[in-house]
Amino acid sequence: MTWFLSAIVVLVLPLASPALAEIKSGSDFLSPELRRQQADETRNPAFFWVEQGRELFSRKPAGEGQACIACHADPQQSLRGTATQYPQVDAGTGKLLNLEGRIEQCRVERQKQPAFGHETPELLSLTAYLASLSRGLPMQVKTDGAATPYYEAGKAFFERRQGQLNLSCQQCHDGLVGQKLRGDTISHGAGTGYPAYRLEWNDVGSLHRRLRACSLGVRATQFDYGAPEYLALELYLADRAKGLPVETPGMRR
Ligand code: HEC
Ligand code: HEC
Repeated sequence: MTWFLSAIVVLVLPLASPALAEIKSGSDFLSPELRRQQADETRNPAFFWVEQGRELFSRKPAGEGQACIACHADPQQSLRGTATQYPQVDAGTGKLLNLEGRIEQCRVERQKQPAFGHETPELLSLTAYLASLSRGLPMQVKTDGAATPYYEAGKAFFERRQGQLNLSCQQCHDGLVGQKLRGDTISHGAGTGYPAYRLEWNDVGSLHRRLRACSLGVRATQFDYGAPEYLALELYLADRAKGLPVETPGMRR
């Protein structure tokens, strides 16, 4: 693999700043078969997580806490489109929250329960369920005002060379789009299908889990789930994906 990546470095270097092509969804780069499987609720395993999330949303927790649905009646309507606006800056704390972060905030502050924790089946299910309510709606995150510094940090991260292989996200996800890498076709890294079921994981995982895989791929620092670095990156990716429809739950190799 290192051999392959070295070949890439040589290939990419001449492309100083690739012209910004139209950003396409990750599923446009899947095999036709996997794309069909993603679209088929009976064959895309991630729909199981969506179902679990739907149930959990209506379940009353132990003790005093209320079910999510007690405060968010008719989620099909009231939370349709929500996922298209994340990550977003929390008005209260000024911090950048992705959808997982917002769910955890409600879980702790409003439902009065302990946080689920990153990559738990509960948080993945609820996130997949809520994101699925925005299926087909265009991404439309805000990058102005309080979001600007986060956007700038995400952009800088995307463009910075890193890791032992000294590669930036941009070199692969702009410069090498459409090229093959270990059986994958490199996409724009739009991230509009997450949480997604990945065959390699044999499981559903968050966007941050995918980002960690890319960081590892270039032998760079893997940040924690929910780390500010990945949140800023997520905002930048979401802005690049502006106008693309939410596809959660996605399926990936
Ligand atoms: C006691 C009432 C209450 C409970 C219980 C509750 N929420 Fe909320 N939730 C709110 C309120 C109020 C807001 C609006 C906060 C704001 O925008 O300042 C909100 C906001 C949200 C948002 C962001 C909506 C947006 O448009 O950005 C999401 C997502 C969310 N809740 C999910 C959940 C989930 C999932 C649960 C269960 C784990 C839950 N909530 C439990 C009251 C509640
Ligand atoms: C050596 C090339 C390479 C580098 C560098 C790289 N990636 Fe990736 N990335 C891939 C490959 C290959 C995939 C899987 C195929 C695809 O969806 O693009 C992928 C997948 C992704 C996906 C999932 C897309 C989807 O729809 O499933 C995202 C998001 C992503 N990368 C973001 C990043 C970010 C952010 C960085 C920088 C921290 C980065 N990548 C660095 C090669 C790379």
